[in-house]
Amino acid sequence: MKTFPWLLLLAIALRAADDKVSRGAEVFRTSCAVPYCHGPEGKAARAPGLAGRNFQIGTVIGIAAAGIPNTAMPSFAGRLKPEDMQAVAAYVVSLNATGAAAGSKPAAVTMPPAVQQGRALFFDAARTGACGSCHEVGGRGIRVSIALQDLTAARLEDLRAVATPGVVTARPTGEDPFPAVVVEKTAARIRVYDLSSRLPVLRSFSPEGVALTPGSSWSHSSAAGLYTVPELDAISRYLHWVAGR
Ligand code: HEC
Repeated sequence: MKTFPWLLLLAIALRAADDKVSRGAEVFRTSCAVPYCHGPEGKAARAPGLAGRNFQIGTVIGIAAAGIPNTAMPSFAGRLKPEDMQAVAAYVVSLNATGAAAGSKPAAVTMPPAVQQGRALFFDAARTGACGSCHEVGGRGIRVSIALQDLTAARLEDLRAVATPGVVTARPTGEDPFPAVVVEKTAARIRVYDLSSRLPVLRSFSPEGVALTPGSSWSHSSAAGLYTVPELDAISRYLHWVAGR
């Protein structure tokens, strides 16, 4: 039986890959899935969902090691052992087969092309500060502010003149004030998204360390201004399509 040792080796290799993914699942649960970040099984919490994204293992390791500057995504280079980094990346890659692609939502193919165009613009990864960096729609994007699929069509009328009554001014002790969206306010801590950079940064303070006052100098047109008028019209078509479902 010449094939036997090969089968055995294959079985051992598959088993090892399996162990790596389950170790990765454990690392993910403790380091990446916390409520403000990627959520259980990579199905988005506040940060982008990682399930069903067709990641390559090298991409995941690169991003996890370096972090993403000016966002809430930190570098894990010094925090995870290399073998845990490998394992967690293997786990994230294993999620390619789950999530959005496997979910119940109809795939993009059922979207009319004009709507697909708006969706692509909304989540445009090449545009720093795209709508999806502050708003979630259908489980995608970052929920800095309101999840837009919850809005009725009436509230989507003019994307160039969106009012932002919920944005406050945060004044940390000894630092310049900045426009902020409050995420958590308890006796123990205050967490806000800092809107002074194009990609909002999640920051944490002790309640004594920061004063919050209503109103801010931030204007939503700084975000909408990244798009041309026809592009905003396409985005509007996409949001209306989502709202109408
Ligand atoms: C830098 C963060 C950021 C970006 C980028 C951003 N928004 Fe917003 N958006 C906000 C905030 C903050 C609010 C107001 C929340 C509040 O006042 O409670 C808001 C509110 C809205 C509202 C109003 C909802 C309502 O209550 O009526 C709409 C619609 C909207 N955004 C659409 C968009 C679209 C479309 C884009 C892309 C062109 C976009 N946003 C980009 C942060 C952002």
